[in-house]
Amino acid sequence: MTLKLLLHRIGPAFYIPLIFIAGPVVAHAQEAVDFFRGNCTSCHTIGGGRLTGPDLKDVTKRKDRAWLVQFLQSPQAMIDKGDAYALKLKEEARDVVMPNINGMSPAQAELLLTMIEAESKLPKSQFAGLQISDRPFTQQDIELGKALFMGDKRLANGGPPCVTCHTVNGAGGFGGGRLGPDLSRAFERLQGRKAMGAWLYAPATPTMSLTFSKKAMKAEEILPLLALFENTARSGAEDDRTGMAGFFAAGFVVAILCLTLFAFIWKARFRAVRDPLVELSARKVLGGRS
Ligand code: HEC
Ligand code: HEC
Repeated sequence: MTLKLLLHRIGPAFYIPLIFIAGPVVAHAQEAVDFFRGNCTSCHTIGGGRLTGPDLKDVTKRKDRAWLVQFLQSPQAMIDKGDAYALKLKEEARDVVMPNINGMSPAQAELLLTMIEAESKLPKSQFAGLQISDRPFTQQDIELGKALFMGDKRLANGGPPCVTCHTVNGAGGFGGGRLGPDLSRAFERLQGRKAMGAWLYAPATPTMSLTFSKKAMKAEEILPLLALFENTARSGAEDDRTGMAGFFAAGFVVAILCLTLFAFIWKARFRAVRDPLVELSARKVLGGRS
């Protein structure tokens, strides 16, 4: 008996159970989508490049499911075990470890992986994340970037201006903050437009993620900031020299100020020591006489 004939024979008895199976699968898919949106999109895209965590497009082709399901239960445990692949992931994530996610049962992990697999096949996943335009940077972009960096123009979601904690050549100079690193070369360090754009959208380091996690920069703000950083990275060498000259000039002024200040302090101290002595000896002399 052929399969076709068999299917024909059992007829509705075959496809009615199918509906019962497919119904919950569709509901589960939606649940996985919601779960992913709520718990994963701050660190992962599907096909939109790396954020704090790797791009999850085709992750099930990179690594077997059993491993992934186990990893999702407790990423830290996998790393503590010394698993080579987990350690490599951690290194690529600049040592950020994925946290344990509430409600991540093995069944939930399976659903998520199935959903990620399906989204990976789409030309553009709904989780492709922030897309920064590819158009060339203009002089206006650089100026706007500078204004945002300096706080002359406020960030729409209320994030503090970069200059509070950073300097960059040509903006802020060394009037900028020192808590964060000099960003003149950050464009190269963070590997250019796309990677740095994604990084700024969801920064991966402790202070930056704390500062911007609830006040994410917008694509219209990230683009001009990238224009600024691209510009300072390109013209870095020249500005470094003026920067150094300024640094030495300032050092000189500060040194003079310090010397003047010390002269004052020592003068005062000298007097404070000498006067009582003079007084004392004067009294002794007078006392001796009387
Ligand atoms: C706070 C950031 C963060 C959140 C939230 C997060 N992840 Fe991760 N994820 C990471 C990092 C970082 C890695 C790389 C491994 C490491 O360093 O722990 C990773 C690795 C992974 C991997 C392995 C990737 C590979 O290339 O093999 C998968 C799969 C994954 N995450 C899925 C998820 C899912 C699903 C969620 C939501 C339920 C989620 N992650 C939430 C940061 C995060
Ligand atoms: C509250 C202080 C603070 C503010 C405000 C701030 N940053 Fe940061 N930033 C830091 C610190 C500190 C670091 C070092 C890593 C860390 O601890 O997060 C850093 C790191 C960075 C890095 C990574 C540099 C590298 O070489 O790895 C970039 C890029 C960056 N900040 C961009 C910005 C931009 C753009 C703004 C403004 C929109 C900004 N930051 C505002 C404190 C700040």
